[in-house]
Amino acid sequence: MSARHHWDEDDRDFSAVQTIRRKRTKPQGRRRLADLTNDDESGDDRDDLIRRLTDLGLLTEVVAELKSGKEATAYVARTPKGTALLKIYRDLAARSFKNDAVYREGQVILDERAKRAMDSRSRRGLEFLQQDWVMAEYARLWHLWAAGLNVPEPLVGPTPFEYSATPPAVLMRLIGTEDHPAPRLSEARLTPDEARAAWAQAVQGMADLLRLGYAHGDYSTYNLLWWENTVIMIDFPQLTTRQNPNFRDLLRRDAESLAVSFRRHGIHESGETTLREVQRRALGPGPEPRMVLP
Ligand SMILES: Nc1ncnc2c1ncn2[C@@H]1O[C@H](COP(=O)(O)OP(=O)(O)O)[C@@H](O)[C@H]1O
Ligand SMILES: [Mg+2]
Repeated sequence: MSARHHWDEDDRDFSAVQTIRRKRTKPQGRRRLADLTNDDESGDDRDDLIRRLTDLGLLTEVVAELKSGKEATAYVARTPKGTALLKIYRDLAARSFKNDAVYREGQVILDERAKRAMDSRSRRGLEFLQQDWVMAEYARLWHLWAAGLNVPEPLVGPTPFEYSATPPAVLMRLIGTEDHPAPRLSEARLTPDEARAAWAQAVQGMADLLRLGYAHGDYSTYNLLWWENTVIMIDFPQLTTRQNPNFRDLLRRDAESLAVSFRRHGIHESGETTLREVQRRALGPGPEPRMVLP
């Protein structure tokens, strides 16, 4: 079933977006139509958002839905800068902001009015939170990308002025190709050699983050893509810094879930050993920076 068809049956007007007819490979994990249509209100919001991004010249077409998670839906899209992953966060009311507080602790919010609204969890407050969450994801993506880490290239920015136009969406370069987006390491089939290489890169990636003072906060094979023998880290809204009093715990938990999630690839390391290796490598040299941010 083509992407166009997929949406046509949905009876929604996607005329703002030129979707194409394709009968080739389905992107992995595409959802069934019934699942999509459940959510009428956010469908309208999504249409408006896609139209806005198109009008701004940031988006050319949405090709297919790739994956729908609890917090966001990921689409394969085309932009003037190339094939993109368009990540659209769920309607605010539907989002849980699960464990949000754990990650936000130690973070300073300068705008008092925004802070009060966020604390109150009013609709306006949730909107601030949502905006903040997306802006933070861009800021971190830019920082990590510029520093030379294996993360997707953000496609809007690098200034907040530029990317403030896109929440609740994030646009980044698609890893893989339009027809074959990169699998996550959680679903990739690896030879023993590949598994060892992927493990080494995943540990190195976590060390690269730590060298910059970050803990990912949700580090496992579910947030690592595998493409052309390279591990690419994704999903950064819950990235935390050393200012966060939970930093050490989050780091330890990341090491643990990384180790556990690699067992299916035949790698058996303990969380403790993994953490020590990450800390050791964080003291070593980092990657070559790609650019200097303005
Ligand atoms: N840059 C990217 N290129 C290809 N696929 C991606 C990219 N970013 C995310 N994905 C896919 O979209 C899914 C959801 O993205 P992610 O950032 O992990 O959001 P969440 O886990 O909050 O839903 C990922 O599991 C991955 O399969
Ligand atoms: Mg994820």
